[in-house]
Amino acid sequence: MSPADWKKVSLLFDDCSDYPPEQWNKILNRRGETDESILAEVKKLLSNREKAGTFFDSLSNRIEAELSPRHQHLYHDGDRIGKFIVKRLISRGGMAVVYLAERAVRTFANSSAPLKANEQHSGDTGRVPGNMACLAAAGKLPRAAIKVMSCHAGNPWTSFRKEQNILSKVSHPNIAELHDYGITREGLLYIAMEYIDGVAVDRFCDLHGLGTGDRLRLVVQVCDAIQYSHGKQIIHQDIKPSNILVDRTGKVKVIDFGVAAILNDPGNRSRPGTGFSGTFSYAAPERLAGAAPSFSSDIYQIGMVIHKLITGDLPRTCFDPAALQEYFPGADNFPRKVMEEMASIFAGTLSPDPAARYQRAEALAEDIRSLLAGIGSQ
Ligand SMILES: Nc1ncnc2c1ncn2[C@@H]1O[C@H](COP(=O)(O)OP(=O)(O)O)[C@@H](O)[C@H]1O
Ligand SMILES: [Mg+2]
Repeated sequence: MSPADWKKVSLLFDDCSDYPPEQWNKILNRRGETDESILAEVKKLLSNREKAGTFFDSLSNRIEAELSPRHQHLYHDGDRIGKFIVKRLISRGGMAVVYLAERAVRTFANSSAPLKANEQHSGDTGRVPGNMACLAAAGKLPRAAIKVMSCHAGNPWTSFRKEQNILSKVSHPNIAELHDYGITREGLLYIAMEYIDGVAVDRFCDLHGLGTGDRLRLVVQVCDAIQYSHGKQIIHQDIKPSNILVDRTGKVKVIDFGVAAILNDPGNRSRPGTGFSGTFSYAAPERLAGAAPSFSSDIYQIGMVIHKLITGDLPRTCFDPAALQEYFPGADNFPRKVMEEMASIFAGTLSPDPAARYQRAEALAEDIRSLLAGIGSQ
């Protein structure tokens, strides 16, 4: 089989792997794949899932080696990616390049019913998620942010498959929604998601000159998104301002599940690894010391975001609640109770001991709300 065939095998495997064996044939039929050798390979892998993880790792290396020389190019205005037409580059990072794109057609048949995540594969019937259909009906061409893997980095194939897999499991108002995913004509994996017309949270706060209360209100939305992810056993692992966008209406959207991990992942493909992934400056100390990621390490990162938004900087050394008064802007204006609550929030997020941190993002959100009540409109 050619690399293109193996890619089909890999995607069909993904489509089926969350479903029980009796549904595999139905799903494969719906995908329209007729090549018997591809179908046989998918079924072989599905019935032997433990080995599949190792298989895909070696496959990813082979495909990567084969594709990388050809794929170090960028997409330009007018280029096609799946059902989308590229408009412009948004961001070019080591692991991925992100583009603003528009849906290629204006009207869709059968588009009113929202799709289930597993039906959003670009090889399907051409239906689109409900909200995109609404935009189309309103005469607006639906926009998407398309994240295309870059072949310059470590193991993008594996990382992208993980991100696709994780995004297909989540649906929350504070998390950028997955629209579609697939492989470009050039053989690169892509994820098409809800385009957030906004900026990173720290920039948003500065642009709008937000006070402490409004900054913390944005953090509450981050907590909501992370609590939801944790409920799905997903650890984000890279919570930081550039992965928290705020749109023009002040709504937070958490993005970038590129290094996220699923605890107890039955498919065994997105389990937390022992190696470090994420951003050093926002990482919990135990992660830097080699401990596995946990809900607690995400809570620590939210604490770092709070610190950045409130003080303008990250803590230089291990956080010391006693020093809070020195740099908490406007500290003198706040009642003593508010200062104590602030100190306790920092201690409950930035403590070097994971056990001393909030165990749930929603408990943190609750404490922030209570503090907000004391701050009023400041
Ligand atoms: N859904 C989106 N809408 C708008 N911009 C986005 C979206 N997703 C990503 N971006 C932009 O692209 C940047 C990189 O995307 P991200 O998913 O964080 O990838 P990485 O950090 O791994 O390169 C983000 O910081 C943001 O500026
Ligand atoms: Mg990012």
